[in-house]
Amino acid sequence: MRPEIKNRVVLVTGGAGFIGSHLCDRLLAEGAKEVVVIDNMFLGNESNLSEAISKGLILYKDDAEFSSSLEYIFEKHDVDIVFNCATKALNYSFVNPKNAFDTNVQVMLNLLELQRKGTFKTLCHFSTSEVYGSAVYEPMDELHPLHPTTTYAAGKAAADIALESWVRMYDLDAFIVRPFNNYGPRQNHKGYMAGVIPITVKRIFDGIAPEVHGTGKQSRDFIYVMDTVDAILKLYPILPAGESVNISTDGQISINELIQCICEETAYAGDILRKPARNADVECHNASNEKIKSLIDYRVTHFADGLRETVAWYNAYFGA
Ligand SMILES: NC(=O)c1ccc[n+]([C@@H]2O[C@H](COP(=O)([O-])OP(=O)(O)OC[C@H]3O[C@@H](n4cnc5c(N)ncnc54)[C@H](O)[C@@H]3O)[C@@H](O)[C@H]2O)c1
Repeated sequence: MRPEIKNRVVLVTGGAGFIGSHLCDRLLAEGAKEVVVIDNMFLGNESNLSEAISKGLILYKDDAEFSSSLEYIFEKHDVDIVFNCATKALNYSFVNPKNAFDTNVQVMLNLLELQRKGTFKTLCHFSTSEVYGSAVYEPMDELHPLHPTTTYAAGKAAADIALESWVRMYDLDAFIVRPFNNYGPRQNHKGYMAGVIPITVKRIFDGIAPEVHGTGKQSRDFIYVMDTVDAILKLYPILPAGESVNISTDGQISINELIQCICEETAYAGDILRKPARNADVECHNASNEKIKSLIDYRVTHFADGLRETVAWYNAYFGA
C-alpha cells in the first residue's frame, strides 16, 4: 500500500527550485508530518522556501549526487516518500554536457539503490517532455519513443529507464511524472539558465527588447506550475508503479505568440530582437494528455490567466 502524504515524512530533492518549492508548499498544506529538502542551491533559492521554512520545512544545502549526503539525511529523518525534482537546467548542458547528464542519472541511481535497500517506501520521479525530442508523431503520448536531443534530456531519459528497470527487478513503488514546459511564480529569471517567460518579462521590466531565437515558430505546451503540482498530488495515490504520465495542457503556443502575449500583458510596444536558432532546439512539443485525463479530475488554468498571475508575481518580486 502506498503511504498517504498526510502524517508522513517526505523528502524533496531539488526542493528549493521552481516546481519543487511549490510542491513543498502543497505537501505541508496536505498535512505531511515533516517536509525535508536536499538542494545544492545550484539554481535553488532559499527565499522560494521562506514560507515553508516558517512552517517547519527542513532544508539541507547538500548534494544528492553523493549518496553519503542522502544517507545522512535518511539517518536523521524516517522518510516515507521521496519526490525527485533535482536537476541542472537544460541550458547548462550546452556548457557542461557531462555534468548535466551525470546529475540526472546519479541522483536517480542513488535514490533507487536506497529504495531497494528499504530506506524509504515510495518514489515519485520528475521526468521531462524533453526526453521525447522532436515529435515523431503527434500528439506525443507516453508510448512516444525517447529521442533526447541534449545531454540534459539524455540523462533524464536514462533516469526514466533506470527507474523502470529497478521497478521490474525489485518491485519498487516508484513512478514517473512527465511535465511539459512549466511557467509561474519563482521560475528562475537569472542568466543563461532562465526560462523564456521570466527572461522576457525581466528584459521588458529592465527596458531591454525581448528576443526570439530562430523563426519563433517552434512551439511548446506551457502549463501553469500550480496545475502541475495539483495533478501530481492527485496522481500520487493511483498511478501504478513503473508507469509514466504526461502533464500537459493539450495546447500549443509558438514562441512568437508567447512573446506577443507577454508584450500585451506588460504593455510593451517596442522592438523584438531576432537571434540565430539554438542548437538542438526542439521544434514542436505537442503532447497528448489523454492518459492523465482518464486518471484524475484534471484542470488546467487558461494560459492568459496564468500569465497574468505570473507577471504580477514578477512585478512584486522585482519591485520589492
Ligand atoms: N520547469 C519546467 O518547465 C520543467 C518541465 C519538465 C520537467 N521538469 C522537471 O521538473 C523538475 C524540477 O524542475 P524545476 O523547473 O523546478 O527546476 P529548478 O532548476 O528550478 O529546480 C531544480 C533544483 O535542483 C537543484 N539541484 C541541482 N543539482 C542538484 C544536486 N546534485 N543535488 C541537490 N539538488 C540539486 C537545483 O539547485 C534546483 O533548486 C526537474 O526534474 C525537471 O527536469 C521541469
